[in-house]
Amino acid sequence: MKLRPICECEFSERLLYTSFVLLMGLGYLMALAFLYTSFENVDGKPGLSVEDIAEDYYGNRSGSRLEAAMRGPMSGYIQIKARGKIVAWIQSGAPESGYKSVVRPILAERCLDCHSPESGLDIPNLSTYEGIQEVTGIDTGMSIHSLMKVSHIHLFGIGLILFGVGMVFRRVEMHSGLKSTLIVLPFVAMFVDILAWFLTKWDPVYAYTVVIAGGVLGLCLAIQIFSSLYQMWFRRSPHKTC
Ligand code: HEC
Repeated sequence: MKLRPICECEFSERLLYTSFVLLMGLGYLMALAFLYTSFENVDGKPGLSVEDIAEDYYGNRSGSRLEAAMRGPMSGYIQIKARGKIVAWIQSGAPESGYKSVVRPILAERCLDCHSPESGLDIPNLSTYEGIQEVTGIDTGMSIHSLMKVSHIHLFGIGLILFGVGMVFRRVEMHSGLKSTLIVLPFVAMFVDILAWFLTKWDPVYAYTVVIAGGVLGLCLAIQIFSSLYQMWFRRSPHKTC
């Protein structure tokens, strides 16, 4: 059966499609904004860069998670001088004596409000020597376990979004080869993107693949959404029924 072109859809159907693709587009923009704000400071320099992404997955193997946190997300809680003392302590091998005499008093000022068992937060406990050892080791980035968690959520969620938007877009009238490409490409890009997250853990050069695949996905989604909206509302069908 031949598909009815999108410009011939009934008004209610057009409303349904329009609401859906607009909401998905908004969701995508929100995801981009979230990505920007959570990654931009990972490498300590302003702005989101490939290095930020590499560091998030691969880690910064010349430093520890504690140092990375003090330079990045936790930097607002500590003065530069105090940070220097803690970094020197980490570099000297993070001995227990230094923890008691130098490090703990600094942490007690601001950090332990949150980083102790009393806070009830599921974050590293910095109030004991055993606890802090968890974050003084080399920073190897996001764990494989967290990657698996984020991957399956993305695969299910984005897969369904691409399916929904693709179902609307397949009624757009355009060159069929181009249309098929635009439908399949974002699925491929999603797969490559997630594969590259794991590869980036192994070699940071794959951070470029993460960025390129993410860009291809966004571009295809945007083309699908805008061409669907355009043909639905602005294109006149020669044999319009409604
Ligand atoms: C207002 C509460 C709060 C304060 C104060 C705070 N942190 Fe955190 N910290 C968090 C939360 C929440 C997380 C987990 C989320 C995240 O990683 O951003 C975290 C995560 C961390 C991590 C783990 C990062 C990783 O690699 O998983 C380290 C290390 C850390 N903080 C160190 C510090 C230090 C050092 C201070 C004091 C200079 C400090 N934090 C002050 C709330 C706090």
